[in-house]
Amino acid sequence: MHENLIKQLGVTKTALFHLMNAINSGKVVPEDILSKFDEAVHKSQLLESAVALPQAAVRAVDSKSAAQRRDEFIKMHAKQPKEFDASVLGINGFPLPLKGYAEPNAFVPREGSDYVLRPDLLRVMIAWLLGGSMDSCLHFFGPTGSGKTSFARRVAELLNIPVLSYTCNQDTDMDHLLGHYVVNESGGMVWKDGPVTLAVRAGWWVQLNEMDYASPAVLAGLNDIMEGRGFYLTATNEFIEFHPDARIMVTSNTSGMGDQTGGSYVGTQQQNLAFLDRLESIPVDYMDSAAEVSLVQMDLGPLANILPELAPRLVKVATQIRAQYMGENAASSALEVTMSTRALRRWARKILLFKNIASKGEDPIQFALGLALTNKCTRPTQHAIANLVTAEVGAWASLTKPSVAAAATGT
Ligand SMILES: Nc1ncnc2c1ncn2[C@@H]1O[C@H](COP(=O)(O)OP(=O)(O)OP(=O)(O)O)[C@@H](O)[C@H]1O
Ligand SMILES: [Mg+2]
Repeated sequence: MHENLIKQLGVTKTALFHLMNAINSGKVVPEDILSKFDEAVHKSQLLESAVALPQAAVRAVDSKSAAQRRDEFIKMHAKQPKEFDASVLGINGFPLPLKGYAEPNAFVPREGSDYVLRPDLLRVMIAWLLGGSMDSCLHFFGPTGSGKTSFARRVAELLNIPVLSYTCNQDTDMDHLLGHYVVNESGGMVWKDGPVTLAVRAGWWVQLNEMDYASPAVLAGLNDIMEGRGFYLTATNEFIEFHPDARIMVTSNTSGMGDQTGGSYVGTQQQNLAFLDRLESIPVDYMDSAAEVSLVQMDLGPLANILPELAPRLVKVATQIRAQYMGENAASSALEVTMSTRALRRWARKILLFKNIASKGEDPIQFALGLALTNKCTRPTQHAIANLVTAEVGAWASLTKPSVAAAATGT
């Protein structure tokens, strides 16, 4: 194998020996020699034969150029730090400054100004932001579409903090979280930080969504990091310092102790107690009705003014579906689905979009309900929810007087 490499590089055995020594000991080797070496290593397929070449030499080549690239990347996305008053999150008279950046970079989430920041979540979030890296890991858990993921994203947006999001699944492993080697443009191998490593280095946030789909054995591998400690990255031979501004955010539908809903969150796994012990866990249920009504009014657009009763009625239906959902209700008639804030808002948007089908004799409310929630349900559930909507909202035609209905449909 070495003979092969020597041939590819066109150098003597001694020159190769010196080059590898230089790389291993971290000496500065000109970039063109490194890339030639990298290319030759790749061509001679030494990378596939881990025993043939000391692994450290391969890593030194890769991590060297990767480290430069990564530092440049972080520098490129670095922004001027800025201290915000808590009024940026809608809380006045709060003296402690919150850290953020003067401008957003490409990794700052965009949730939008119509997002409602819930006061119950804000107080834990602010305490978390002001806490040190020892309490670096916040966990929101609760039913689907209750605002767990988007809440942290909106807070980050207001403070211009970059968030690296990763959705866990049953195949998640440490490589996905910490990083791995990938083939670069020239066919060589280059190290790429995973979201956890990058956030910990750069002082950003990492958001691990659906944490309970990952294997407990894998997540337990993050235990040290969850406590705000730096860690040794074996693949690149370096110690990653935990940046004091880095934060880890976790979301899931279960608390991590297994699905308690009778099977709605199929695929979730009970997590390791030591891992869960490192999380500051906060249950997140659906927001209060008044806040949901104002969101639904926004989604209904002009319809909210023409049919002022519509938004509160839609929210009432959502509240009733939630109460009858099997995760909350043990009755044999319990519903297999719930109506999340996500589905509720989609329902309102689809009513607005399909309002004109009323002129063809179809009911926009029921049609939109199917799109938003019930088309995927079993027949008994479809009927149960359709009946609930008829009882609580009424049929489109009867909801309005003919003149108002005409205005609503634009006819
Ligand atoms: N406070 C809020 N203000 C405005 N919209 C919200 C709010 N909370 C939730 N939503 C709506 O609900 C959707 C779902 O929110 P989000 O993705 O945060 O839910 P989640 O709890 O993370 O759900 P899942 O468990 O399915 O991942 C959002 O895209 C948004 O449309
Ligand atoms: Mg989510």
